[in-house]
Amino acid sequence: MSDIYFKLVNTPFGKTAAQSLGLPAPVPLKRLRRADQPFTEGNVLVGAGNGGKAITTIGSVLSASAATLYRASGKATLEDSSKAGDKAQALDLASYTKAEFSALVFDATGLKDPEDLRALYDFFHPVIKKLGMNARVLIVGKDPATCRKASQAAAQQALEGFIRSVGKETGKKGATANLLWMAPNAEKQLESSLRFFLSARSAYVSGQAVRIGKAADAPTVNPVAPLTGKVALVTGASRGIGASIAQTLARDGATVIGLDIEPAMDELEKVIHAINGKALSCDITAKEAPAKIADFVEQHFGGVDLLIHNAGITRDKTLGNMPEHFWDMTIAVNLSAEEHINDELMARELLRKGGRIVCISSISGIAGNFGQTNYSAAKSGVIGYVEAMARQVRNGITINAVAPGFIETRMTAAMPITLREAGRRMNSLSQGGQPVDVAETIAWFCNPASGGVNGNVVRVCGQSLIGK
Ligand code: NAI
Repeated sequence: MSDIYFKLVNTPFGKTAAQSLGLPAPVPLKRLRRADQPFTEGNVLVGAGNGGKAITTIGSVLSASAATLYRASGKATLEDSSKAGDKAQALDLASYTKAEFSALVFDATGLKDPEDLRALYDFFHPVIKKLGMNARVLIVGKDPATCRKASQAAAQQALEGFIRSVGKETGKKGATANLLWMAPNAEKQLESSLRFFLSARSAYVSGQAVRIGKAADAPTVNPVAPLTGKVALVTGASRGIGASIAQTLARDGATVIGLDIEPAMDELEKVIHAINGKALSCDITAKEAPAKIADFVEQHFGGVDLLIHNAGITRDKTLGNMPEHFWDMTIAVNLSAEEHINDELMARELLRKGGRIVCISSISGIAGNFGQTNYSAAKSGVIGYVEAMARQVRNGITINAVAPGFIETRMTAAMPITLREAGRRMNSLSQGGQPVDVAETIAWFCNPASGGVNGNVVRVCGQSLIGK
């Protein structure tokens, strides 16, 4: 459904009217146009608080990019910025007045106590007003759960409040702000996440703290087709977010099995035919579904690498008015079916080494929603399932979830207009997301180099005001 307010505000008259009335003025987000587009361009400034462990990796990843790289200098708290490498030109922050930045990247892993937080002010204060449209702010910190000293955990946890506030201050420029909390010695696992969060692929992801753990390896992948040779199964692939996931994974090189219910077969065939995939008719809640899916995967490909549990339904009613079958169906499609399918595929060893499982939660699963006790319970359950499974998976397999906010699909087009408008505007970017925003986040989880990203729930919500 088209966002008429968004279109109006992006006309010269609408922009002026919105400004004078103090109304939200969402700017168009820059999304990926071509698969071979550089992950970042323009002027990128990097910095590190003293003792930073990630700055060398950040410097080398960015040195290989299309960006003009600068490193912060001139402040005692930022001396370790020099470890960003020779390709980064020193830039004295005290006297900086020049061009805009497309990204500000800061290594905060060395911050040991609240006094060290001064480095954040020293790095960001002189340049934050120079952030360009659609720019990126990215901080790498140390996972507070791995800090032995309380003062260090305090400093590292502080990064979350900081980044979330920066996201709110800079969202009006279509800019995002995110945080990577790295486990000790997990520097090798950073690259795929640095690339994702600095790129146009993460246009609608803001205010997120992602944990990056250690993993056996981080293979070098072709950034244009990182999923080459992989087989993906996407449930609910005939339309909306599922169709976009199928297209995005195929763009990245995967062979896609698209699954949907029998009445959606015509739509599914069209989507799947265009990407040379295979279509499977199946109701995921049917008793025989796990075995049917496993047989299909085994027969056609001998196994599967990427399992994307996208199919979902809503059956909204306040609890007192909710019929029994609304409750049962919503829990079955959104939650139980995923577990049964995973169990079958893993028991038959059809999920390959280095496999990826991705589940779809929702902001309703984080914050709850009026009339959605069934849906919110199911989507909260998805989070519990993902977090518990992340501790159990072996063989380089990861499991993560996305929690979409307001995404422009048939599901949200069916909402009453007042709720729809509120959903669109109540986030730092003042607009709804597109199905591709969810799909790009899933493609990042699926990247072979994202083995350190496990057990995360990443919101794709433009930093919605709703929920944590
Ligand atoms: P949609 O309603 O457009 O698509 C859902 C797909 O799942 C359909 O193709 C449908 O046929 C399929 N499906 C439903 N029941 C099935 C079953 N028993 N077996 C197999 N396939 C089945 O939904 P949309 O908006 O694309 O959502 C996709 C996912 O994202 C869902 O899990 C939804 O809960 C979640 N989500 C969507 C949000 C949004 O703003 N659109 C927000 C938060 C979460």
